[in-house]
Amino acid sequence: MSYPKLNNPFISLLFFVISVASFTSAYSSSINTHRCSDSQTLVLLHFKQNLSSISFPNEYSLCQDLLGSNYRPIMMNWNISTDCCDWNGVTCDHSTGDVIGLDLSCGMLQGSIHPNTSLFDLPHLKSLNLAFNDFNGSQLPPQIGRFSNSLTYLNISGCLLSGRVPSEITLLSKLESLDLSGIFRSDLQMEPYILNNLLENSTSLEHLSLAQVNIFGALPTYINITSLKSLDLSSTGLEGKLPSNIFNLPQLQKLYLPGNENLAGPFPTINTSTVTRLEILDLSSTKLSGEIPDSIGYLKSLNYLSLSRCGLVGSLPKSLVNLKQLSFLDLSYNMLNGSLPLWFKNLPSLESIILHNNMFSGTVQFDSFPLRSLKQLSLGYNQFDGRIDVLDQGPILHTFQKLTNLIYLDLSFNNFRGEWELDSVLSSLTNLTRLMLSNSGLSVMTNTINRYANPGVGALYLAFCNVKVFPESLRAMKDLRYLDLSNNLIRGDIPEWAVEIGGNGLIGLDLSNNSITGLPQLLWEGLHYMYLKSNTIQGRFPRSICNMSNLRYLDISNNSFGGVIPSCVGDVTISAITINLGNNRFQGTIPNVYENCGQLEGLFLNGNRLDGEIPRSLSKCRFLKVLDIGNNHLNGTFPGWLGDLPKLQVLILKSNKLSGSIVASSTVESQFPSLLLLDLSYNEFVGQLPTKYFQNFNAMKYVTKSNMKLEYLESGGDYYSIITVSKGAERSIPQIFVDYTIIDLSNNKFEGEIPKIIGSLTSLILLNLAHNNLIGRIPFSLGKLSEMESLDLSWNQLTGEIPQSLADLTFLAFLNLSQNHLVGRIPKGSQFSTFEGNSFEGNEKLCGLPLPKKCEGSLKPQIKADGDEESGFTWKAVMLGYSCGTPLGIVIGYMMLTTRREKWFNEIVDDVGEHMILKSRTMRRPFECKYVITCVDEFTWSRDDNVLSN
Ligand SMILES: *[C@@H]1O[C@H](CO)[C@@H](O)[C@H](O)[C@H]1NC(C)=O
Ligand SMILES: *[C@@H]1O[C@H](CO)[C@@H](O)[C@H](O)[C@H]1NC(C)=O
Ligand SMILES: *[C@@H]1O[C@H](CO)[C@@H](O)[C@H](O)[C@H]1NC(C)=O
Repeated sequence: MSYPKLNNPFISLLFFVISVASFTSAYSSSINTHRCSDSQTLVLLHFKQNLSSISFPNEYSLCQDLLGSNYRPIMMNWNISTDCCDWNGVTCDHSTGDVIGLDLSCGMLQGSIHPNTSLFDLPHLKSLNLAFNDFNGSQLPPQIGRFSNSLTYLNISGCLLSGRVPSEITLLSKLESLDLSGIFRSDLQMEPYILNNLLENSTSLEHLSLAQVNIFGALPTYINITSLKSLDLSSTGLEGKLPSNIFNLPQLQKLYLPGNENLAGPFPTINTSTVTRLEILDLSSTKLSGEIPDSIGYLKSLNYLSLSRCGLVGSLPKSLVNLKQLSFLDLSYNMLNGSLPLWFKNLPSLESIILHNNMFSGTVQFDSFPLRSLKQLSLGYNQFDGRIDVLDQGPILHTFQKLTNLIYLDLSFNNFRGEWELDSVLSSLTNLTRLMLSNSGLSVMTNTINRYANPGVGALYLAFCNVKVFPESLRAMKDLRYLDLSNNLIRGDIPEWAVEIGGNGLIGLDLSNNSITGLPQLLWEGLHYMYLKSNTIQGRFPRSICNMSNLRYLDISNNSFGGVIPSCVGDVTISAITINLGNNRFQGTIPNVYENCGQLEGLFLNGNRLDGEIPRSLSKCRFLKVLDIGNNHLNGTFPGWLGDLPKLQVLILKSNKLSGSIVASSTVESQFPSLLLLDLSYNEFVGQLPTKYFQNFNAMKYVTKSNMKLEYLESGGDYYSIITVSKGAERSIPQIFVDYTIIDLSNNKFEGEIPKIIGSLTSLILLNLAHNNLIGRIPFSLGKLSEMESLDLSWNQLTGEIPQSLADLTFLAFLNLSQNHLVGRIPKGSQFSTFEGNSFEGNEKLCGLPLPKKCEGSLKPQIKADGDEESGFTWKAVMLGYSCGTPLGIVIGYMMLTTRREKWFNEIVDDVGEHMILKSRTMRRPFECKYVITCVDEFTWSRDDNVLSN
């Protein structure tokens, strides 16, 4: 008998106990040669010692879904008084008593795998399954290589392992099945050479699954492995091309490579002289691109083919008709075109035809599909047209009656014409559970021939279908989960019986944009979203909404709801993500948020008659991104306490009665760090503009413009929309672009100067300070706002000249400087030449085009810097400019970058200033940077206003 080294007191004690126990049992019964050996018992107990199996977080029924088994505390009956061969999950070789198999999958194990865990001391272990336990970021130890002579099956999937997969894994030469996959993601990394070793040197490997493991490398161009039956490398960051012979591996039946966005085409050629056994091919979300090759028809065993989101173009190859085994075809989200072939009906096993989000066109002939087998037909978001009528008789109805297995039909977002009688459709397609006709071009009418047409429907999407009457056949649909009747012509009250729809299981309801005037009692406590916007519903806020504890999206905007918003709405925030009560007639105060604010991201109460102050409890809404409470009668002061909300991007308080001056609290360092859009217009704010806040609007500075992706503020797939004044007119912004930063402080009583620091908010697109009492010059620094499209400073008391720097704002499409006291020549510049007189009128002393008044006298050089540089960028330019060719300058430049003390700069500049000024006299703008490496384009010579104007 060989014992593992005993240096752990617990183990020693255990060992003693086991010895005694085994002695006792050996004494009391005849010696059993098949008994689990003491050393192996010990190894298992030691393994158990490091794990607990008590509080495993069991939120998902993953084991049920993926393995078909349940979580169970598997090591509960592991104790020394019984033979370890009888323990749950342990398999022994009954002739030797050796532990040869451990299946602890879904065993509710929690803890870490230690590098020197005793587990590797089971010399005969053939099969190890630890799948779906929580090993809490442990690494897979290199000692795994010690199983090299025994292990044939290893499954550590879904175990939350992290770190690198040790190269010793390739020593497991007997391995037939290896699964290290993660479930949704994985922190495991694998060097590409390890994968390539596995694929090149294994002689027994049949199943390899590394889904989600971070590999980030390319596959070999040719694969030698002949034993492989299934390969799953989903979302592993694969790059490069597919191995040329991958479809001809003699045993390969299942190939999953989805989610590898850098895995490029071309589609490997298929060698027709060898048999391909490939049954499942999933290449979705790869960069396969190009046309689907004809050779795909050689994969004659295919029954599952997914090429969705691959950037494919062209039409469907005819050779697909050779895939007689095909049951699942997903080509969605590509750019495929052409019309639908007629040969689908020749594929007798075809169950799913998923072609949505492509550019297919032409007509759809339902008798071209395999009527008996078809379960799912998804043709949404294409350009199909032609007339399809499904009325209570006619040829299509006959065809539909043969689609006895169809459960899913999606024709939405196409250009069909025709009328569908809902009950006729539903009573012919008796197994249909999901019908999607939104925006298909089809009109849906209801004759209420058969009220119990198909009570099994689970989802009905009929937006933009000219539905005139709330369909009575809905009443029988106790399983309905999703109902979309938005954008139709339904008038009047929703019938009282509607409360029966879906039993208590209705999850989504969209009745927006109809002419609905009244609602039944709302009893759907399971709703996740409810959209009732843009109707004419009157009455009080339906209190029963407060009982919908799963409600995530609520939109009842643009109706005629009135009365006070009940305080229980403050509890809806616990589950809600967006709440939109805008444009109604609610009055009274904004309810307080009580318990917590959950995940609330958007709160829209604009356009009501709410009064009182903005409740401080909103500061509990840590996830709030958008707060729109404009167009009400709110009073009190600026809610500076919202400045702590880390995610707040949009704050709209316009058209209220807010007053007082805006003073940033000095206690918090970074206020409104994420703010992109601030609209305080039409209030009664006084005092200086909030300079301190401008300093803190970090999201409006240094925004890196991503040209690649247009990013919008959204929540759960819905874009936030707001109305703002842009370019002089009020306009609705249906989607807020995250780069679209706006400050609108117009129509208040702000006074004092425009702070230069505004020039540091470089991503600003719209700045509106009109209709205030601002004085002083227009800061030169506004010329830094290179993204600016709209600038309105009209109706203030601004003086001085219009800075030449504004003429360089290449995107400036709207400018209004009228009704101020500006003087001098209107700058010339490409954008400025597009503005008309009404951008400048009401400034008596302005001259030059486009105003009729001509300028007198000679051209005076303009002041080219603000009196007091807060941002320091001008200084940098000065110093770097000076550094041209002079060693002293380089030193100064260096020191300037390493210190922020402005005073100190001034001293240095005073020393060199004389030199610079002399030089500047001979320079013309724009400064030509001959020597300067880092040339700051908005170059200015001096901070001293008088230097140049002398
Ligand atoms: C509202 O519904 C009508 C009728 O379907 C449609 O014509 C209109 O475009 C919809 N309005 C919006 C804003 O979608
Ligand atoms: C704010 O409005 C409420 C309700 O109209 C009023 O009772 C209160 O006095 C107002 N507060 C201020 C500071 O004006
Ligand atoms: C600028 O504002 C003035 C006064 O409000 C207005 O009359 C003028 O039309 C505006 N100019 C432009 C370009 O909108």
